[in-house]
Amino acid sequence: MSGRPRLIVDCDPGHDDALALVLADVRADLVGITTVGGNAPLIDVTRNALIVSQVYGIDAPVHVGSARPLVAEPRNALEIHGTHGLAGPVLPALERTVASDAAVEWIIETTRADEGIWLVPIGPMTNIAQVLRLAPDVADRIAGVSFMGGSGGVGNHGPVSEFNALVDPEALHVVLTSPIAEVRMAGLDLTHQFVVDDALERDLRAIGDVGGTFAADMIASYLEAMVGRSGRRQGGLHDPCAVLAVTDPDVITSTRRHVGVELRGELTRGMTVVDQRAGDRATNVAHGHTLDHAAARRIMLDAVAARADVTGGGS
Ligand code: BDR
Ligand code: CA
Repeated sequence: MSGRPRLIVDCDPGHDDALALVLADVRADLVGITTVGGNAPLIDVTRNALIVSQVYGIDAPVHVGSARPLVAEPRNALEIHGTHGLAGPVLPALERTVASDAAVEWIIETTRADEGIWLVPIGPMTNIAQVLRLAPDVADRIAGVSFMGGSGGVGNHGPVSEFNALVDPEALHVVLTSPIAEVRMAGLDLTHQFVVDDALERDLRAIGDVGGTFAADMIASYLEAMVGRSGRRQGGLHDPCAVLAVTDPDVITSTRRHVGVELRGELTRGMTVVDQRAGDRATNVAHGHTLDHAAARRIMLDAVAARADVTGGGS
């Protein structure tokens, strides 16, 4: 046992998911990767998870999860991450294969067999909600859940709705109302402090080798999408924040709050309501609200540099 945290990352790569996987594998023991339909359809995000694993030499097994949310119709973010979810880099020929197409069952078996694993969902919460419904005992077996989703302020796929929360709010509700003792939230109010800009692209490109170039090409594509959306070449590096909350908790300042998710509002479905009032209401979430940006950026760059010259990439 290494003493490092053990993580299962549940993801929908996605540019920021890809960097979160690199961070997780360098800074923690990555027990496995599970996929969920989100940024792109399930078949695409699963292929992307395999490609990212190949490019950066990540050996954790990839298990395929849910194609669609619990209740809602699926929706994607192709306008941000590209038609197949990983626009920008030249993708190598795929040499890897999935370990199973039963991610939910695999999470249940793995967390029952081995206590103290963190679940780190950085896409819609569908798989995790299914785990908790099928196996409520898992709530007591895991170290906690550290998720990217929601916002303590403005949204990105609606005035107040963040993408992951909006895609499957019913699933997020299952997690927020579960008895899991430690739930850490990296919402947009935190993740927009992890600034993606030309300087980040330049520093990734300067790392060189296959991995530095792959990451820089992802960021270049993401920045183009940000220009299309807001007119500014700037965005947030969302998903690595949920990993950092476990691997490097000192870079995030959190406050325990009550957080709920809106399931019914016409304008507010998918909104996370972070109760910031003082009072005696029971808290259920450690709401990350302040990021040490310089430290987070350094850790991310070092993680990519540590894996830049793995030879699983393409041209
Ligand atoms: C979240 O939505 C996705 O597009 C990103 O990968 C991230 O998980 C940000 O709202
Ligand atoms: Ca994601």
